[in-house]
Amino acid sequence: MTTLVRKPADFRQACDDARAASRRVGLVPTMGALHDGHFSLIDEAKKRADFVAVTIFVNPLQFAPGEDLDRYPRTLEDDLAGCRERGVDLVFAPEPGSMYPAQFQTRVSVGAITKPLEGGFRPTHFDGVTTVVTKLFNLAGPCAAMFGRKDYQQWRILSRMAEDLDMPIEVVGCAIVREPDGLALSSRNRYLSASERKRALGLVSGLRRACDAWLAGERNPDALRSLVAERVQSSFDRVDYVAAVDPETLVASEGTPTRLLIAVAAHMATTRLIDNVVLGEDPRP
Ligand code: PAJ
Repeated sequence: MTTLVRKPADFRQACDDARAASRRVGLVPTMGALHDGHFSLIDEAKKRADFVAVTIFVNPLQFAPGEDLDRYPRTLEDDLAGCRERGVDLVFAPEPGSMYPAQFQTRVSVGAITKPLEGGFRPTHFDGVTTVVTKLFNLAGPCAAMFGRKDYQQWRILSRMAEDLDMPIEVVGCAIVREPDGLALSSRNRYLSASERKRALGLVSGLRRACDAWLAGERNPDALRSLVAERVQSSFDRVDYVAAVDPETLVASEGTPTRLLIAVAAHMATTRLIDNVVLGEDPRP
């Protein structure tokens, strides 16, 4: 049975009760509009824990003015049905006012790894993410928390934060789930028209080019970066970045890489998409 709670205090109580009954809590934070990417995190949580809690909250703090907060899909009934089908124990779907009452004035901020890549284009985004996730961690209590590597930088930042602040949370990074043609699943894919959806494949085809070159022995980050950038530039309307960086520090590193993160963000009409691959680690997308 899937229980829906709306109030932070009820969410905390349900997680405390589960632990009191010797159940390990598995947490899956989301903004809803659930798809198979989210469901893979739920499956992973079920493997690692015996009480699975999904949170659904479109966090206003992580959207800048002019971003898609207002049009972000809200599909609670469908999300609940999906959670029920997969045997989720608890869904926490708070009202914004209960997460951020009028007097709210605290931010949690992580350092250097929030600055490159997404941080360069969405300068307030990660403070919004780390603040809300800290609240969710504090309410859930000790648990294993699942995050997708689709948002690679977000996952690294949240691991760093949990370690730096001694949070009793095991942060787990889960593989990217893709459509059969390779497009990474995203709640934002539904904004794409049929022709934009086709052009969006330029992203994964760029990443594949880099994988193939890597497998053929290419280790020069600039060369690998250019292969991806060419493909993305020709299919997208605007490219925010194509980066080839160290997967730990998220900045360029000296010497020949043994692993290399290729991360991309680009705009297709009014939709901004991101994707990535870690060469030397991930399978070819
Ligand atoms: P949201 O975009 O809903 O994503 C929730 C989780 O699902 C994130 O960890 C994200 O990386 C993961 N995810 C999304 N698409 C995926 C895919 N194709 N394959 C694997 N995992 C995927 O990320 C957020 O929400 C928010 O920033 C949040 C962490 C909930 C804080 O508000």
